[in-house]
Amino acid sequence: MHAPKKPGLLARLSPRRTTRILRRALATGAVVLAAASLQPLTAHAAPQPVVGGTRAAQGEFPFMVRLSMGCGGALYAKDIVLTAAHCVDGSGTDTSITATAGVVDLRSSSAIKVRSTKVLQAPGYDGKGRDWALIKLARPIDRPTLEIAATTAYNHGDFTIAGWGAAREGGGQQRYLLKATVPFVDDATCEDAYGDDLVPGEEICAGFVERGGVDTCQGDSGGPMFRKDDTGAYLQVGIVSWGEGCARAGYPGVYTEVSTFAADIARAASGL
Ligand code: ARG
Repeated sequence: MHAPKKPGLLARLSPRRTTRILRRALATGAVVLAAASLQPLTAHAAPQPVVGGTRAAQGEFPFMVRLSMGCGGALYAKDIVLTAAHCVDGSGTDTSITATAGVVDLRSSSAIKVRSTKVLQAPGYDGKGRDWALIKLARPIDRPTLEIAATTAYNHGDFTIAGWGAAREGGGQQRYLLKATVPFVDDATCEDAYGDDLVPGEEICAGFVERGGVDTCQGDSGGPMFRKDDTGAYLQVGIVSWGEGCARAGYPGVYTEVSTFAADIARAASGL
């Protein structure tokens, strides 16, 4: 979702919601600008992924996708990427997005790059909750997909987050995929931070509330938050959505609660 598209929407919303959406739009705008000049990590700055992370190994998260508008995503099917609604501009034919997959290094010559053909933004998306979207690709990508959580059974514990977004609040986009682990934060604790801005039935929070320091950040949006299920397979429980700054103490990251929308996503994907 690009800042220039926002004014029409903002004009129709309450001031409180406008503030929140503006915060997100500005954040995403910054991502797009930063994405234009990928900043390699400098020698003196230790890699802090995602904020507070480390570099992912090549092939470690083969379902991870980088989207050209400056967001992340995951392969839901070989030719469908699951991302955030706020990363796209609505639904319909869209050949403007390039998905990059198969590499941790975005500049690798072996990167797989495929164009979009269609976008489906969550029906009824209005900037609050329901932050998911599907992108149909022009051809399948021969990499493993990431299964989504169909029930709430795994909405607890420690989660993995990964992305090419900023490694610190206000920082540049990353050339190499970064990863980190963050613990589940219950709705009541998350509401202490965000009040009515949180939609508890549609969003799941994660982070180290007391100390901060580890989080997703601008440019990670749309990427998956995942964990292992009882069979040891990765399962997607969240989609990077929003937060107050990045990795601030008292402000966990907010993720789309995938289990809430699993049936909607499956239905939408089968019709895409
Ligand atoms: N909205 C941001 C994006 O477009 C994601 C922010 C996530 N923030 C956080 N503190 N976890 O990339």
